[in-house]
Amino acid sequence: MPVTSLKDEILALKRERDAIILVHNYQLPEIQDIADLCGDSLELSRAAATMEGKVIVFCGVDFMAETAAILSPEKTVLLPAPDACCPMAQMISAEELRFARARNPDAAVVCYVNTTAEVKAESDICCTSSNAIKVVNSVEQDRVIFVPDRNLGRYAARFTKKEVLPWEGFCIVHDQITPAQVATARQAHPGAVLLVHPECRPEIIDLADHVASTSGIIKYVCTSPKQEFIIGTEVGILHRLTKECPGKKCYPLSQASVCRNMKKTDLTTVRDALQTLRPRITVPEAIADRARRAIERMLALP
Ligand code: 13P
Ligand code: SF4
Repeated sequence: MPVTSLKDEILALKRERDAIILVHNYQLPEIQDIADLCGDSLELSRAAATMEGKVIVFCGVDFMAETAAILSPEKTVLLPAPDACCPMAQMISAEELRFARARNPDAAVVCYVNTTAEVKAESDICCTSSNAIKVVNSVEQDRVIFVPDRNLGRYAARFTKKEVLPWEGFCIVHDQITPAQVATARQAHPGAVLLVHPECRPEIIDLADHVASTSGIIKYVCTSPKQEFIIGTEVGILHRLTKECPGKKCYPLSQASVCRNMKKTDLTTVRDALQTLRPRITVPEAIADRARRAIERMLALP
């Protein structure tokens, strides 16, 4: 079916279902273009908790839709591509976290939002890439178990006096970015500002001019007086950068930085989800109630 009629169908179904479409910055351009809100994990979590509507169509990956379902249990939360998962979220289980906590009873547990609901339920407070430093500094304890992203944990550790114990998880996209790729991009675009996501390895963070979440990167490019930028994160972000920062030149640090799971949602799966109200994401109440505490603590931070 032509893209325009698929889009019209989605818009009609959206009205009929009283639905909102939340879209992560890494989604395909045509999905970003039908969003009620396109944003980073923190912005999308806040929107899931506050936006009106009976149905949330979450165009992202599993943990994002789960977070929306935890925050808005009265809404129908749909994940159009049911196999869109985040491998990092599978790198720690609730049982493993319970063991880690038992070994470090004096430490707080900070979990990245890229975790399962079960892991959030075992955590004291949640964080995203845009507030990890603030969250780590907000806990009372002097020691912090940070799960599951070792790179984000180590990044946050640079900005706190607390002892951070990072789990050994990682993003299979950002963890692959190498100093050699940075050198090649810097050579090709001398003078360009290098912006990277904190899921990158420490040696990439050391080479960057600025580190930020996906929406933080977009804001930086749009407001900077500079004209050229090398973008060290998943390539889907370039669509918003082109649309919202016209006149600026943005080059991907690596064309290979593609999250396959983020590309599983297309217009057909969104249309089908709105038509059938499936696949629906639900979280058992007992787990959701405990996971919600960790997420709401994060959202309550000023
Ligand atoms: P943010 O959009 O919150 O920066 O997160 C990036 C990411 O990898 C989400 O899976
Ligand atoms: Fe997970 Fe990395 Fe994909 Fe984000 S980019 S969803 S952290 S695999």
